[in-house]
Formats: sequence, structure tokens, C-alpha cells
Amino acid sequence: MNIIVCQNYDHLSDYAKDLVINTINNNDKPVLGLATGSTPEGMYQALIKAYQEKHVSFKDVTTFNLDEYIGLGKEDPNSYHHFMDEHLFNYVDIDQNETFVPPGNTDNHEQACLDYEQNMHRHGDIDLQVLGLGVNGHIGFNEPGTPFDTRTHVIELDESTRVANARFFDSIDDVPTHAITMGIETIMESKQIVLLASGDSKKEAVQRLVNGEETPDFPASILHRHNNVTVILDRDAASLL
Ligand code: GLP
Repeated sequence: MNIIVCQNYDHLSDYAKDLVINTINNNDKPVLGLATGSTPEGMYQALIKAYQEKHVSFKDVTTFNLDEYIGLGKEDPNSYHHFMDEHLFNYVDIDQNETFVPPGNTDNHEQACLDYEQNMHRHGDIDLQVLGLGVNGHIGFNEPGTPFDTRTHVIELDESTRVANARFFDSIDDVPTHAITMGIETIMESKQIVLLASGDSKKEAVQRLVNGEETPDFPASILHRHNNVTVILDRDAASLL
């Protein structure tokens, strides 16, 4: 696990942006795994700027997002579909038919999980997977206790996750109770993984990620088993290391 401590959030975002651009520029048909949440917002802004300055093109890029809330349609401002449109896809030259986010509002979620996996399989392995880190150690929406061998599945959200994400909603009652997420095994099949963590609220989780034991109680701990992981932190997130 390669750990990079950046001076601040802007540097973290810039560092992550460079890793994404390298992946895009070194692959004919790059496949990116993308994350939502507040942490990668700066990276997306930096990518849009790089696109505007013609340092990168997304025209041959395919993307698969990690997760989506169950019950929120594409147009819902709190859906991760909407997040991705607003934070990246609408502002770059990506083929919108090549951007995939798990569907949150189908009739048959189990089938949707299988279809999502199959679609990923058709595109080959993910070249670079971006991850955030939940305060409880979740990656994607794989909450503590999720077996390491899971593939894309439906999960009940932890109360701590609903509380942490309530800031985006009018009230905690509006935060969905379930989500669809790539599984831990799915994530681990990516060729390269970059995990971003920023701010004081992540410092305990970061310490446990770096120094703690490998256990399903802290899903991100699985990353020690992967041979190409870069953890990018700002000083606050790294302050207990
Ligand atoms: C959310 C998302 C994760 C994200 C994490 C951290 O619930 N499902 O993919 O990485 O929690 O979010 P944030 O970056 O806003 O702290």
C-alpha cells in the first residue's frame, strides 16, 4: 500500500487527477471505476479543468460507478447518477452510453446486480478504481460485516452511514435505507486502486486502514491484499499516522 500525504485537499485532488489522466492516456480503451461523496469532488473539478485545457480526452473512456441509493431515480438530485452528471459527465467529451451507474429504481434489484456485473465483465477489468472511505471503513457501500467475497449486491445501510450522509438530504428520514453496491471482490479485481481520504473526520478510519488488522468488520482493510493501491490523504486525515 503506497501512502501519499498531501499538504491539503487541493494537492490531494491534483494528485488523484494525475493518476486518472495517466490511466486514460496509457490505455486504448480505459475503464475507470468511479466514486461519489464529497471527497472526490475536487478531483472531478481538476479533471474538467484538464479536459478544458486539452490535457485529456474522455472520448474512449468507459466508467462504472461503485454504488447507488435504492429508490432514487436518475433525476433525483441526491442520486449518484445525478452527482456524476453534475460533477463530471456533463462537462467532458465522454460518450454518455459508456457511463454506468448501478440502477437504484428497477423492479428487480437482484437481476440489476447480475446485469451490472455482466456488463463490467464485457468491458474487461477496471484499469483504475477510485474509492472514498466511510468513517466506519466502508468502501463503496460495503458496510462492516460484508463478506470479502461479495460481488455487486443490495445492502442495508448502517445507521452511521445514513447519519454521515444526511447532510445531503433535507432530513435523515429522507436518506434511503438500502443501496446497490459493487462487491468487495468486484472492487479487488481492479488493476489499480486509489483511495482518497480528506479531513479530520476520517483520521481514525485512516489509522485503522493503515495500521489495523484485516477484518470484514472494517471492509477497507481488504486493500492490504491488493498489489497496486495508492492511498492519498491530506494532513488532517493523516494526523494519527
Ligand atoms: C459514501 C459513498 C462512498 C464514499 C463514502 C465517503 O457513503 N457510498 O462511496 O466513498 O461514503 O463519503 P465522503 O467522501 O462524502 O466522506
